[in-house]
Amino acid sequence: MTAGTNRAVDIPFGLRILVADASLVLRSVLSWSLERHGARIWHAESSSQALDKIGAMDFDYVIADAELPDSGGTELCRAIKSDRRTQHIPVIILDSRDSEDVQKAAYQAGASACISKNQTKNGILEDLLHTMKQTAIKHNRLVLVVDDSLTVRSLVSKGLKEAGFRVVEAENGRAALDVLRDVKPDIILSDIDMPEMNGEGFCRAVHEDPVYASIPFVVMSTHSERLVMRRMLQIGADAYLVKPFNVEQLVITLEKLLSDQLLLLQKEKERLESEQKLMVASITSLCAALEARDSYTRGHSEAVSTFASRIAREMGLSEEEVELVRLGGRLHDIGKIGVPDHILLKPGRLSEEEFSIIKKHPVIGGEILRPVPSLAAVLPIVIHHHERLDGKGYPEGLHGSSIPLWARITAVCDTFHALTSDRPYRNGMPKDKAVEIIQQVKGTQLCPDCVDAFIKTCIWEAGVPGTQADEPEDDQREGSNTHRFSHHPPRVTETGHTTEHA
Ligand SMILES: [Fe+2]
Repeated sequence: MTAGTNRAVDIPFGLRILVADASLVLRSVLSWSLERHGARIWHAESSSQALDKIGAMDFDYVIADAELPDSGGTELCRAIKSDRRTQHIPVIILDSRDSEDVQKAAYQAGASACISKNQTKNGILEDLLHTMKQTAIKHNRLVLVVDDSLTVRSLVSKGLKEAGFRVVEAENGRAALDVLRDVKPDIILSDIDMPEMNGEGFCRAVHEDPVYASIPFVVMSTHSERLVMRRMLQIGADAYLVKPFNVEQLVITLEKLLSDQLLLLQKEKERLESEQKLMVASITSLCAALEARDSYTRGHSEAVSTFASRIAREMGLSEEEVELVRLGGRLHDIGKIGVPDHILLKPGRLSEEEFSIIKKHPVIGGEILRPVPSLAAVLPIVIHHHERLDGKGYPEGLHGSSIPLWARITAVCDTFHALTSDRPYRNGMPKDKAVEIIQQVKGTQLCPDCVDAFIKTCIWEAGVPGTQADEPEDDQREGSNTHRFSHHPPRVTETGHTTEHA
């Protein structure tokens, strides 16, 4: 599994990461890869430069080469961990020597991981993502520590902070409920025997409130309270720790609970993703069904989708982007579902009024798809595939590069497919002629880069999916990027479309 496309290893979006390495190549490679996972990257070439940057802003992670100029990554880690203001930042050491001594020193200095540089770029990235995912479980997680003993609270809080947690304290159940009004912790750690409101009362109160009921609740108790502890597990506590316990035990327990919770969230996320996939499949089927009502439009979106994905790949877009362009092609005309049948299926020429209704389909399409979060990326294709470079397109009359690239790509394919497809009133144009016309409107209607990539792919030579007989978009009639093409040179109409004849 390549890390660049590895969706299974997901890190929180927007992480601020400082990459400290003398090698510009390595910094650039890591930047490029991590940015694809939504991270924001800063660079440092030496320990002193890294410390300057860490002093100036708060990072979520520091990745440092063990042999970093000035003092080395391990010393940098030690400096970060010895400063109260920065000790919460997880540090990952990169080691090119695969030395046990380096690893030992890194962990002793407080590093979260020591990763070998002697592996492929993808291997390094996968190790980094895995480490970040693991540390994300506890990083910045807020623990509410409830105990009437100041000594216990202080010791527990100190240990948790050193392990990367954030901590808020309360001296009894009543005070803890007050704290809950202001903050929602990720986990609650509570003593049992406390004045005002004991742990049992507090645990009940937490579990009776739907806002807090899902927060993992850990009980701290002494041996003499074991019976009470059992009762607390029955009323909703998730785990218990018997005093005295050490910080390692505590951290492991909290990490396990948070990890379980993360797993549940992950499963819920997967369930939502699966539902979204079904929804996209349904919408795609809906598009196909919409086109199938008219033998002249059947298969149009699929053909545009195939062409567009090929152009996208030719233009160097990532595979992830290529797939989104492919999806956008399938859905680009979904808005036609909002156009009345007597206009959409009208075999003859449309009036200006009818055409103005057809022209609403990109906006309608946008409105239909906007509520589906996973389709947000393809909205620009749906909304802007009828824009023109010269600003005479619709719906917004955008100019040039202000038209989203994916929409410009789709427009080329939409136009070509319409030209080569049959209509009730004319046969589809020969592909060579269509290519010629596409070239003629390059720069006015269609994006030159996209047209060049289209020409380069020669995709039509492999056979246009479903053309010549069954899937044109169209012309004035359907509000496509063409407007009744014939074999005459195109001209631009007042509606911003190339047209075959007046
Ligand atoms: Fe369209």
